[in-house]
Amino acid sequence: MLRFNFGPRVERFAVRPPEKDCPINILEGAVRSGKTWCLHPKAIYCCDYDVGGRKVITGVSKQSVYNNVLTDLFDIVGPRNYSYNRNTGQLRLCGSEWLVIGAKDEGSERYIRGLTVGVALCDEVSLMPQSFFQMLLSRMSPEGARLYATTNPDSPYHWLKAEYLDNPELRAKRILWSEHFTMADNPNLVPEFVESQKRLYTGFFYKRFIEGLWVVAEGAIYKDSWSEGLLYDPKDEPLGLRVRGGHVQRIIPVDYGTTNPMVFLDIYDDGKLYWITREYYWDSAKQLRQKTDAEYADDLAEFIGPQRNAKVIIDPSAASFKAEMTKRGIWHADADNDVNEGIRIVSMVLNQRMARFCRQTTQNTIQEMQTYAWDAKAAQRGEEKPLKIHDHGADAFRYFAKTEVPYWRLAA
Ligand SMILES: Nc1ncnc2c1ncn2[C@@H]1O[C@H](COP(=O)(O)OP(=O)(O)O)[C@@H](O)[C@H]1O
Ligand SMILES: [Mg+2]
Repeated sequence: MLRFNFGPRVERFAVRPPEKDCPINILEGAVRSGKTWCLHPKAIYCCDYDVGGRKVITGVSKQSVYNNVLTDLFDIVGPRNYSYNRNTGQLRLCGSEWLVIGAKDEGSERYIRGLTVGVALCDEVSLMPQSFFQMLLSRMSPEGARLYATTNPDSPYHWLKAEYLDNPELRAKRILWSEHFTMADNPNLVPEFVESQKRLYTGFFYKRFIEGLWVVAEGAIYKDSWSEGLLYDPKDEPLGLRVRGGHVQRIIPVDYGTTNPMVFLDIYDDGKLYWITREYYWDSAKQLRQKTDAEYADDLAEFIGPQRNAKVIIDPSAASFKAEMTKRGIWHADADNDVNEGIRIVSMVLNQRMARFCRQTTQNTIQEMQTYAWDAKAAQRGEEKPLKIHDHGADAFRYFAKTEVPYWRLAA
């Protein structure tokens, strides 16, 4: 048998034969606590598990299953013990046939509706649509069918928490079992790594990602991450920052708006800190004049200046404005618009004090970073998203952080 290095609580689950498990098993808790790794020995056990129906591995997308689960699993079993077709999701693992299904991939619900499922391994289940999860459960009719799911915590109103984890009836009938993990349950992490992870989070983010608690996201989003130390006066800008050789990269994130404000930020990366040196902020409602895409593109060209050394990143949906930029030969790329993941990264950038906003020339952005708030009404429905008011500078900065800040720099 393969040897895994698990903490005692993880080990109890990992080496328990599927016969002894409940129909639904959920591993929840902190980041890096070893939740996904628990699935590896379980998957290997399940290869020999005699149950009707298909065996499936699901995640948000086939690609995320491949990245988060399969690459390690393949390393563990070795090249002779698997074959995988990344297009169809057909997987042969230790002599047993599996299907990999991405919950958000096109047509996946229809696909699963036609299956009978005996074993399902679900990574990051809270990120799947509830309808997919319900469909999956409804297909698990064989006797002895087992579902194993991992999840980071989310809102306490999230469907997974409210309808499954907090459902006393499912527990009383031994239909559902769950375990809560923290990084202390993962003996593979060196203490320095645990400490560096902890430094990335504060407040709500700390409770959720480090303590692994299902806490509600409420109030001002960056309230625990924001501080005066993130501001600077023009006289404190590093000498030569804006000239060639004074910075590694110059990035201009754009939050596109026509009736809403249009924002550009001028960000210089000196290799250590991100300097938010200027903002362009046109609020057509306040100015009583709406600009055309062509006028905005002219303003952007002027904002960039004659050096033309900036990379513009922009909301992928702003098609008409992108066309205007292309016409003018302005170098641009799509921003990654994963909102909640972007917010998490911004909070890390702020916690690590990796950004400096100019007190005098980025006032709207500074203001909005502090008032950017969670939508309380949506939260009641278990949905987490920011309020769409006074969010323009904060959105532009989020695009920048999610698209341009590499993970290794956060954790350094
Ligand atoms: N049994 C194990 N053997 C070796 N490394 C492990 C083991 N369990 C966890 N790890 C290490 O810990 C990291 C975090 O575990 P993971 O399962 O990805 O956490 P989570 O899914 O809770 O975020 C993994 O990337 C891996 O390096
Ligand atoms: Mg994981």
